[in-house]
Amino acid sequence: MDLLKSLPLEHAESQPTDWAEEAVRADFPILATHYNGQQLVYLDSASTTQKPQSVIDALVAYYWSSNANVHRGIYRLSLEATRHFDAARLKVMSFLNAREAGEIVFVRGSTEGINLVADSFGRHRVGPGDEILVSAMEHHANIVPWQVFCERQGAKLQVAPIDDQGELIWDELNRLITDRTKLVAVVHVSNTLGTINPIRKIVDLAHQRGAVVLVDGAQAAPHLKIDVQSLGCDFYVISGHKVYGPTGIGALYGKRALLEAMPPYQTGGDMIRSVSWDRTTYNSPPQKFEAGTPDIAGAIGLGAAIDYLRKFPVEAIAGHEHDLLVRATDGLSSIPGLRIVGQAADKAAVLSFVLDGVHPHDIGTVLDQRGIAVRSGHHCTQPLMDRLGVPGTTRMSFGLYNTRAEVDAAVRAVAEVKELFRC
Ligand code: ALA
Repeated sequence: MDLLKSLPLEHAESQPTDWAEEAVRADFPILATHYNGQQLVYLDSASTTQKPQSVIDALVAYYWSSNANVHRGIYRLSLEATRHFDAARLKVMSFLNAREAGEIVFVRGSTEGINLVADSFGRHRVGPGDEILVSAMEHHANIVPWQVFCERQGAKLQVAPIDDQGELIWDELNRLITDRTKLVAVVHVSNTLGTINPIRKIVDLAHQRGAVVLVDGAQAAPHLKIDVQSLGCDFYVISGHKVYGPTGIGALYGKRALLEAMPPYQTGGDMIRSVSWDRTTYNSPPQKFEAGTPDIAGAIGLGAAIDYLRKFPVEAIAGHEHDLLVRATDGLSSIPGLRIVGQAADKAAVLSFVLDGVHPHDIGTVLDQRGIAVRSGHHCTQPLMDRLGVPGTTRMSFGLYNTRAEVDAAVRAVAEVKELFRC
């Protein structure tokens, strides 16, 4: 095991002094889980984050003591549920720095938010000869809705290419945004590469040419400060489960004027102002886009997750995660035959790699046997895999609860894979 001995892992026993590691970990009950006598090392937060006790408690408390439908009852319990639900919307508004609560639509997650915009915004505004621009590093959730949409509307889907580091090629982006471009849909942080895209710059360029911009913020929201006013984007989507909240809930931010002008996405109860056999009129945003009973508990859980995240300065979270990213990058880079996929200058806490001669699924399986959870495969970015010429990667992604010791354990386990496969 000479390779293992040579790994640069013994250098830093201490944790960053400003990060209360043990206290943070104690907030997440699942992190104490053991499998086959080994403690869980969870390095798959880009797939979904673990949940703090306060989020679990908020879900239980809602069902235990406040469960009733919202916006419908005049009795106390329903008013209380409505109060909690509306408070959650205000928390999302503040988290994204939207101007008003009416700009926040609760959806099932980023995927539904993008589908909503594709269906509702695009239906009357995009037609034959028009173009939608996405980037080569998009998640399937920001590709397939636009493919289907373009096919339906007779529009053309353009793809902004990336370089070998995993960064957008600015000259190409500049060339591809034209007066035919109606909408640019771009990811803030790549779920596979970790690349942080220059959203403000993209927005300025798109707006100069008359295009609106939708940002897929699913992977950015847990790591960066999100300020939709300063980004200037027209739409921004997040998923609750990526920010330590429940699954099945997320939010779409849309500029008020755009949401006002857009037709409903789904129809039914609560999205109407009046219904008769002759004619139905619609509620104002956001209710116009929230047909049926919403995920009340999910919204309240998301609000609790935002409360939890806001206990920490975003710079402290980013600093801690960057420390882990740098440490993991250093450790993995010292393994011969291992290549980091995605080397952008500006990266969030996502680290993909390939190891010569070993399939990513084999790496994932061996790590799992050591209690280490990572994601292996195409990460719902198959066109990106084609661009990079790999069938898939192994991906470690970090959250605020991860530690240097966990990074070291994961790097050692990857080195052991190399020894096992003698590659
Ligand atoms: N989009 C999630 C991921 O990157 C599921 O793993």
